[in-house]
Amino acid sequence: MPGTTSATPKLEDLRVRLSEIQQGHLLRFADDLAPAELEALCAQIAALDLESVPALVREYVHSKPSFDPGSATIAPPPGYMRGGDWDIERFRSAGEQLLREGKVAAFTVAGGQGSRLGYDGPKGCYPGGAVTGKPLFACLADWIHSAQDRYGATVPWYIMTSPLNHEATVAFFKQHDHFGLSPDNIMFFAQGVLPSFDMATGKILLASKGTVATNPDGHGGSLRALAHSGALEDMKRRGVEHISYVQIDNPLARVVDPVFIGLHAAAPNSSGEMSTKVVAKTEPGEKVGVVCTIDGKPGVIEYSDLPEATAAQRNPDGTLTLRAGNIALHMLSRSFVERITSGDLSLPYHRAEKKVPCIDPETGQSVDPSEPNAVKLEMFVFDAIPLCRNSIVYEVERADEFAPIKNAEGNDSIESSARIQTERAASWLDARGVKVPRKSDGSSDCVLEISPRTATRPEELRPESIEPIRSGEKRAI
Ligand code: UTP
Repeated sequence: MPGTTSATPKLEDLRVRLSEIQQGHLLRFADDLAPAELEALCAQIAALDLESVPALVREYVHSKPSFDPGSATIAPPPGYMRGGDWDIERFRSAGEQLLREGKVAAFTVAGGQGSRLGYDGPKGCYPGGAVTGKPLFACLADWIHSAQDRYGATVPWYIMTSPLNHEATVAFFKQHDHFGLSPDNIMFFAQGVLPSFDMATGKILLASKGTVATNPDGHGGSLRALAHSGALEDMKRRGVEHISYVQIDNPLARVVDPVFIGLHAAAPNSSGEMSTKVVAKTEPGEKVGVVCTIDGKPGVIEYSDLPEATAAQRNPDGTLTLRAGNIALHMLSRSFVERITSGDLSLPYHRAEKKVPCIDPETGQSVDPSEPNAVKLEMFVFDAIPLCRNSIVYEVERADEFAPIKNAEGNDSIESSARIQTERAASWLDARGVKVPRKSDGSSDCVLEISPRTATRPEELRPESIEPIRSGEKRAI
């Protein structure tokens, strides 16, 4: 009988607290649970920030907050644009020096649920290499190998998981011998979670009679997780000063980019706090956040919040004025993350309507919704940009660094990513005089993948060591 377990006082306390915030249903099935199950449920509930629940329901479930720039002046951010008049080699050298000194760490956020991909396992285990089919984690690990070989120093790798995929991620690394990297230089830690809410009622959903439905707290949760996990301490101990932030789902992400590191750390107009790599937006309505300044302060505006007329403004040369499209590649300084997480860091929440299987709080029956039934809240890492004194952007060629895998098919799928990986490789080979077979529409008649261990830019390819490429061939270089 649950009523006779050691959990009883906690249970009664919790009942009172929950009914005060209109979430009493979470313990409705307590009598159906075995003592250990009930204890686990109580622990899960007690770990939630219950005080904040009524405000979250009011502000994010029953209303849909949106950003209104009003009369604010939105302008392009200070930055280093493609074709601009700046000395790329100077910043490459600065970045390389920091790498030689072991002052740079890689940080991958891999705690997402990958619901659009529909893959059964952590997204990082998904095959991302166009030819090799190697897992996304391996694609990123190759960059770390490449940097360690070139600069003769360790690049420690911090990997954020979520409580939902932590064990599977750690086991995958073990199974793959940490992709040849030293496990001593890889640290895994789980991010926090938030409860998922019933969209209609604001009640926290139950995944089962004994489990609250939760979701990871977004990639913005990574900053707090860096602090709470001890990762920042570990970085300090190792002498790491700069953190290269990449997401798990972009196999072309330059995990270690000396130019970006150099700009972030040494550009005269950089605060060295948080910098962002961007690509030129293709059209005003493209669904990508824009890095900008808002009344002179650095920030990112989501595409849905950017007024149409502002998005459509053009420079005299015809390029979009606000073209700095955010591709979620950032440099952060350790001291910046320490500063913003030392107090009570509160990034805003973003609301998403999702389908979340749950149980009916009245009947206890399972519900597998065919339409979104839930509100999930997440924090976004780019909301830390306004906390910087100033923040620069570095514009790169889209096809060179951005081949995301988000969906099972169509746009941003493994097929589209493999095409981008191939075309990037083809352009590098072209630049080095290696003939790439083409179809009549000009696209490559082959599948190509260049490992960063072979080359991180065209100049590093050795054309003499590359056999002629045949039509229809799949070639990993
Ligand atoms: P996405 O926004 O694409 O989300 O994450 P997702 O969870 O991977 O996929 P969907 O939306 O459910 O289909 C972008 C990056 O941020 C990480 C993801 O792992 C990915 O690298 N992320 C996202 C986290 O680490 N934690 C989160 O809570 C959310």
